[in-house]
Amino acid sequence: MALIAAVLLWAGCGGEPANGPIEITFPVSALGAESQVVRRQLARFMGEHPGIRVLQRETPDAADQRHQLFVQWLNAGADDPDILSLDVIWTPEFAAAGWILPLDRFGPDTAEFFPTTISANRWRDSLYALPWFVDVGMLYWRTDLMRVAPRTFEELRRAAGRARRDQGIRHGLVWQGARYEGLVATFVEYLGGYGGRILDDGRVVVASKAGLGALTEMRDEIYASGTVPSAVLTWHEEETRLAFQNGEAAFMRNWPYAYGLMQDSAGSRVAGKYAVTAMPAAPQGAPTATLGGTQLAINRNSEHPEAAWSVIEYLTRPEQMLERAEVVGQFPTRLALYQGPELGEALSIPTADVRRVVESAVPRPVTPVYSQLSEILQIHLHRALTRQRTPAAALREAQAEMQQLLNRSGLGATGSRAAR
Ligand code: GLC
Repeated sequence: MALIAAVLLWAGCGGEPANGPIEITFPVSALGAESQVVRRQLARFMGEHPGIRVLQRETPDAADQRHQLFVQWLNAGADDPDILSLDVIWTPEFAAAGWILPLDRFGPDTAEFFPTTISANRWRDSLYALPWFVDVGMLYWRTDLMRVAPRTFEELRRAAGRARRDQGIRHGLVWQGARYEGLVATFVEYLGGYGGRILDDGRVVVASKAGLGALTEMRDEIYASGTVPSAVLTWHEEETRLAFQNGEAAFMRNWPYAYGLMQDSAGSRVAGKYAVTAMPAAPQGAPTATLGGTQLAINRNSEHPEAAWSVIEYLTRPEQMLERAEVVGQFPTRLALYQGPELGEALSIPTADVRRVVESAVPRPVTPVYSQLSEILQIHLHRALTRQRTPAAALREAQAEMQQLLNRSGLGATGSRAAR
């Protein structure tokens, strides 16, 4: 123990331990600029900490695939990778399974972060992951096709119709409609737009009037008004981005990462011709952004938790967050960055707008069985959107199965502190 402590101390202070540097493994995104900015930041970190070598491993970007991979590793008790980049919806699951370490003992400066990003990473009063960047669902709109962005679903439908009819744009709106996590993220925004939610204190309430309004709206966009192409039923984030970037859609629902990627006129037909705003809402609801984003956590079986923490602490510093904002357009999780001028320059979106969307972002249910809940919901939403079921039947079935799951897991309405 004393020996380990000495080595760690050494690692922390910059000298190289006698038996070579400590190796920390860290699987991250393989998307071009994002992977490069992490590489750069890790190179700087290693320059300051010659006792630690961080090995960057590329992993799939699709949320569900990455989840499956991490679950396999952690379930097998692997001590590698040391650092995990988690989707915000996985933290309670990984914490409750005992796969990741509580971070409180490292003294993280949690008061500096957006409170929702911290509460989404707490489980049973401990913090299990530190928010790296925050994702919010936004409406991208073409500034060359219209003067103002629509605020209601109806306004959007009309503007999309005009763009298709009068300006020859192929699609009105594109969103993530494949049967995967992205569909739930999109649905949560329509649901909020109709004034509804998925869970209410351990009770599944998705088969509500609001739920029905939201799912019917999504379905009508495809089959009634033709606003949304039925192709989206197999699309993830990247397929929607490519359609919008090629000038084929008047609107797109997507996360912030797309903003920066479409600015380069070499690969984008819409460079300088788009802006972002909040998703539309119906009169009975409010514009809603799903809270997403990536968190950093430590594998409970890591042999080097202190060294892993020093990497996390470094990557979540304000200067690294600003650099990520500038290079890949991701939104920082630290509040103070929204006060200075640098963030606005880095993102080329007014900081006050970004802050407003982030502050009103709605988390998906914070529960260790989130992935299972979501899978049930995905199946039924997709059935309604492919017209195998009516929206009402799909939501009723989803609600019954989701409630059964919660009850079976002891997280149902009675005595639950977990499922919100
Ligand atoms: C983004 C979000 C994440 C969400 C996923 C869905 O990666 O950050 O929270 O679950 O997209 O596809």
